[in-house]
Amino acid sequence: MKHAAVIGIGSYLPERRLTNQDLEGMVETSDEWITTRTGIRERRLAEIDQATSDLATEAGRRAMADAGIEANDLDLLVVGTSSPDMIFPSTACITQANLGLTCPAYDVMAACTSFIFALQNATAAIESGRARTVMVIGADALTRHVDFSDRGTCILFGDGAGAFILQASDEPGVLGIELGSDGKGGDVLKIPAGGSALPATVERVEAGLHYVQMAGNEVFKFAVRVIPKATEAALAASGMAVSDLTWLVPHQANQRILNTVAERLGVPDERVVSNIELTGNTSAASIPLAVDDLYTNGSLHPGDVLALVGFGAGLTWGAAVVRWTKEVQ
Ligand code: UT7
Repeated sequence: MKHAAVIGIGSYLPERRLTNQDLEGMVETSDEWITTRTGIRERRLAEIDQATSDLATEAGRRAMADAGIEANDLDLLVVGTSSPDMIFPSTACITQANLGLTCPAYDVMAACTSFIFALQNATAAIESGRARTVMVIGADALTRHVDFSDRGTCILFGDGAGAFILQASDEPGVLGIELGSDGKGGDVLKIPAGGSALPATVERVEAGLHYVQMAGNEVFKFAVRVIPKATEAALAASGMAVSDLTWLVPHQANQRILNTVAERLGVPDERVVSNIELTGNTSAASIPLAVDDLYTNGSLHPGDVLALVGFGAGLTWGAAVVRWTKEVQ
């Protein structure tokens, strides 16, 4: 059986910055509260004329350049997102056209865990021999769905995209993936209107039902419970232990979540990747953005073992253990 290995990576953050000081002028909050409760200092917002596919396209273009591949080399594009440009066509199809690809393209929607679910699709396609080269993009413009008068959510989210190119290899790259869902927990994090249950109406928009609703405390407790469990399960499926990890890359949702899971897993803080201070929670983009930061900093080396761990609405969670095989540029 062939393995799936990462041969290229790229990411994109929009230019527009929203700082904690900016938020102080919008809702009753303070830089001090946001920093100590979340670790976030600023986040990026997509420009008014930038949709999720535009962020995905730029990250994809950068990953293709990094891998040194052409449009025709790709056999599949999977985009993980929960802020699609529109209900259909899929964001993957729009991105496919932007990049001049000819391969099949589809979206995977698992909220902030979308990148890990999409990675599972890509890995399975390669391992089964159905595809040789696959692009996986995690992209979200969740700030488009945030109520900027709700201080419980508007301080958290930012926009961005990150992409991996995976290719069939004799050398193991993606070692093990563990996914989970608990649909009974759907109420703690949702966007109630805009779908088939509550289609858009003036009344629903006026009631703000098209915005993110979140029971922050519940999500926090869920995250610190599932991240260690998923990480340990994916490590076990890969024949590895926590002590084998070079980098733990959790979904960047809250610095206090990162600190708590690091402690529970027994991973030293310096092995836990965090860029939340400058990005906020970029949903499906957060994990590939954090890995790309490591890569561009020169902190990733062939043989390094990474655990990529996501969680989010659904509820969903997922962890992938990846052996880095790509040389630093
Ligand atoms: O991708 C997954 C998405 N979501 C998450 O991962 C979210 C996980 N949860 C969290 O990150 C945290 O629960 C939050 C950052 C959202 C909230 O932090 P918390 O420490 O759980 O605060 P809290 O909701 O328990 O609120 C504590 C206090 C409350 O005031 P009282 O009732 O104690 O007087 C809130 O009203 O802080 C107040 N508060 C704020 N104060 C200033 C809530 N938001 C703010 C704010 N600025 N932005």
